[in-house]
Amino acid sequence: MKNTTYTNINTDEIKNWLKDNLNEERYIHTLGVSEAAEELAEIFNLNKEKAMLAGLLHDAAKCFSNEKLLEIIHTHIPDIKDCELVNYKTLHAPVSAYLAKTQFNIEDSEILDAIRWHTLGRVEMNAFEKIIFLADKIEARTRNAQFRKKCLDLLQEEKGLDKALFECFEATIKSLADRRLAICHITIDVYNELLTKI
Ligand SMILES: [Fe+2]
Ligand SMILES: [Fe+2]
Repeated sequence: MKNTTYTNINTDEIKNWLKDNLNEERYIHTLGVSEAAEELAEIFNLNKEKAMLAGLLHDAAKCFSNEKLLEIIHTHIPDIKDCELVNYKTLHAPVSAYLAKTQFNIEDSEILDAIRWHTLGRVEMNAFEKIIFLADKIEARTRNAQFRKKCLDLLQEEKGLDKALFECFEATIKSLADRRLAICHITIDVYNELLTKI
């Protein structure tokens, strides 16, 4: 039996909404993430339709103002964690998950969690969360081709998904530090976790 928590979703409707609510570059990135997520789902034998949807919706709230993001968080996301509020760049993740649920009727917790944690990551991420996190960093349309190739090459190795993910966390932490932006402790925890695994 088909899981009705994510089927019957009209992707054209989602794309039209995204076109209206994202700038062009972010919309193109979003298409790239949905494609990369589908490719990674194929490689790791995960649900391709769910991966495509998570990719499509992961940045739905990215172009909302910080004021609007905070208003939605404080009004509708009671389980928000302090660490999700540390850096304004990550506010869109819980709100995008909220939109996926309320605007597009996605109830599947794996999709919603992958969207919510696509910026900070979290310890003991499942394979689905990992491929969405990775897809966001290596999609072919707007991300750096050299970094994409490096990660795809790592995927061929043993423990490849964790190795590729580690590259992403390392690059994210370096980039945040370079810009003197706050780094959530969860992100550091995932970095340390992956370091012991690879
Ligand atoms: Fe994002
Ligand atoms: Fe993204």
